[in-house]
Amino acid sequence: MKSKFGLLGKLEFLQNLSSSFISSINPAVIHNIEKYMALKKAVYLNSLEHQTGDYLEFGVYTGSSFCHAIKCFKKTEKFNPFQKETKFIGFDSFEGFGELEEDDKHPFYVDQNFTTSYKKVKRRAEKTLKGWGAGCQLVQGYFEETLKVGAKEYGINDIRMAFIDSDTYSSSKCAFEFIKNNVKSGTHIILDDFYSYNGDPKKGVTLAFNEFLNESKFKYRKILDYGMGGIVVVLYK
Ligand SMILES: C[S@@+](CC[C@H](N)C(=O)[O-])C[C@H]1O[C@@H](n2cnc3c(N)ncnc32)[C@H](O)[C@@H]1O
Repeated sequence: MKSKFGLLGKLEFLQNLSSSFISSINPAVIHNIEKYMALKKAVYLNSLEHQTGDYLEFGVYTGSSFCHAIKCFKKTEKFNPFQKETKFIGFDSFEGFGELEEDDKHPFYVDQNFTTSYKKVKRRAEKTLKGWGAGCQLVQGYFEETLKVGAKEYGINDIRMAFIDSDTYSSSKCAFEFIKNNVKSGTHIILDDFYSYNGDPKKGVTLAFNEFLNESKFKYRKILDYGMGGIVVVLYK
């Protein structure tokens, strides 16, 4: 019987070529490219709504997503009269995860994979910002300490976007506790490791997010999936 795909079905070498190419791409590269796209879309949609407030990132590591977010906000300035009032605040130990509780343990979430230099990241962020807008701040330390105080202690009253990228339940729980009183309708939340821990919703950032929702007056809509298990949601009442 004649194949419906015609000649294409016979071009096994083309299939092999594309399969070899795709299977050899480092998954981290795919994840980061899609993360960049997701951030760009979220910032654009958030800007179209004339949202006010700050951009917060929990888990900054080398600053690649933090700096990318700054670029996206700068590039979408024309869509939002309040864009330049946005301050960029990032939180990280810059030493990895520290001592993890039994339930947070994961083969990939180990300090060796995530130690970096606070000074270098700060320089990188300032270079990206080039004095634009309301500036940036990087807070060094474990969330269990740095997020113990309320958001107001850091001059944060209004959050337009929060990127939760610290992988574990305990760290994301601290982040959600910290943002819960300053999010609003239209706040975008980016959850980088939503399907981690074998997809178990009783673990990781998913558990922390569900606990946040249970205590919150907000509901959410998922607007995007990206990379190796990240999602973007927007809050509404
Ligand atoms: C996946 S990396 C962040 C990647 C970054 N957002 C990017 O895309 O470029 C996770 C970061 O969370 C930080 N982290 C995890 N648990 C933490 C905690 N309890 N306190 C402070 N930082 C923590 C680690 O140090 C690490 O740098």
